[in-house]
Amino acid sequence: MKDIKKYIDLHKDRFLNELIELLKIPSISADSAYKKDVLKTADEIKSSLEKAGCENVEICQTKGYPIVYGDKIIDKNLPTVLVYGHYDVQPPDPINLWDSPPFEPVIKKTELHPEGAIFARGACDDKGQMYMHVKAMELMTQTNQLPCNVKFMIEGEEEVGSASLADFVKENHEKLSNDVILISDTGMIAKDTPSITTGLRGLSYVEVEVTGPNRDLHSGLYGGAVANPINVLTKMIASLHDENNHITIPGFYDNVEELSTEERAEMAKAPFSLENYKKALDIDAVYGEAGYSTNERNSIRPTLDVNGIWGGYTGEGAKTVIASQAFAKISMRLVPNQDWKEITQLFKKHFESIAPKGVTVKVTPHHGGQGYVTPIDSIGYKAASKAYTDTFGKTPIPQRSGGSIPIVSLFEKELKSKTILMGFGLDSDAIHSPNEHFGVWNYLKGIETIPYFYHYFTELTK
Ligand code: BES
Ligand code: MN
Ligand code: MN
Repeated sequence: MKDIKKYIDLHKDRFLNELIELLKIPSISADSAYKKDVLKTADEIKSSLEKAGCENVEICQTKGYPIVYGDKIIDKNLPTVLVYGHYDVQPPDPINLWDSPPFEPVIKKTELHPEGAIFARGACDDKGQMYMHVKAMELMTQTNQLPCNVKFMIEGEEEVGSASLADFVKENHEKLSNDVILISDTGMIAKDTPSITTGLRGLSYVEVEVTGPNRDLHSGLYGGAVANPINVLTKMIASLHDENNHITIPGFYDNVEELSTEERAEMAKAPFSLENYKKALDIDAVYGEAGYSTNERNSIRPTLDVNGIWGGYTGEGAKTVIASQAFAKISMRLVPNQDWKEITQLFKKHFESIAPKGVTVKVTPHHGGQGYVTPIDSIGYKAASKAYTDTFGKTPIPQRSGGSIPIVSLFEKELKSKTILMGFGLDSDAIHSPNEHFGVWNYLKGIETIPYFYHYFTELTK
């Protein structure tokens, strides 16, 4: 591998400016008001793939937002890397908590990022990380060192469940055939501690509705005599965890894969400071399932969390009222072997069963997906490990993440290939939160590391 650092040095300002232009388009997939912007982003990705040296670049229409595809097949006998990423972003709200507007990217220095970080919605998740692959492709074609075939598949519905992509993958086995899938949509432990994500959690997302009396009531005239849907809902939710913070839904843990003592000991070796963790979040104690460490609680253990709850009067001042209805959105993060559809059914059955007389309960499942674990002895993992070792000067640590990319397990099922998760983000990048950012150093390091992956993957496959 030659001239990689030189090429990046020469073009880094343009690499940053191009990303900044992409970040200006509010491609919020969850909000139909931004439809034009989402479609415009797809067009921009198309032309950036063409400029980077891809052929057969096309916008593939779906029932939802399009998938941008592009490839470069240099020799059918060489291996093929399929790059996946997403061009849609999360809604930016609460907007008043941003220090600068979410779609007006700015580069600012921070304690962790003395080289500067790009602040914008999607900077890290996933426009910035996806674009590293586009620029790595440009670098490899421009310096004549693309060692194998490449296919790009960039979608616009990841943040809302990837429904169209699932159909697209099922219908296009041949087009998408590959030897390894490469994704940068996760994080790493720290700038000086590279890591490769070896696991993702699954997800089951549900909405619940508790209905009591047929109308909102005067809380003096009726209070104490009828079930208050908000009181009932909060009591029901509270009962979903016991005093050890275990989830109480019968059967919930039945298929949970338990790690061996050795595996847990191996995990515990990853550098982690509980003090820094608490300090970064301004909390005086961590909280969670008894018998597990913080890093275990947020990666190898399943969880149940309320993501939103509403009902009754929330306006200014006071209104004495018993609401007719109360609502909550609940997500469960799942671990390998838990089937998300089965867990959704277990939740529904249990939640309906614990409703007291005097209210009715409705459970509406949203999206979900399976978890994923990948071995560390595959060619893909070894190639990624060698790549990081070259560019970071350290062997990366395998790490299971708590986040979810549900489509990854579908890739394995449909395309029969393993996914390598080379994430360059940091937990402190505030993805999905106000002031999301991505370190300039991380961005350029990603662009530098990716070509090494291609090089080693091709070499090890031969
Ligand atoms: N890129 C994230 C997932 C992620 C982030 C995994 C960091 C590991 C580390 C992805 O865009 C995402 O937000 N996924 C959603 C699930 C999806 C179905 C909405 C999630 O994890 O909540
Ligand atoms: Mn993402
Ligand atoms: Mn996301």
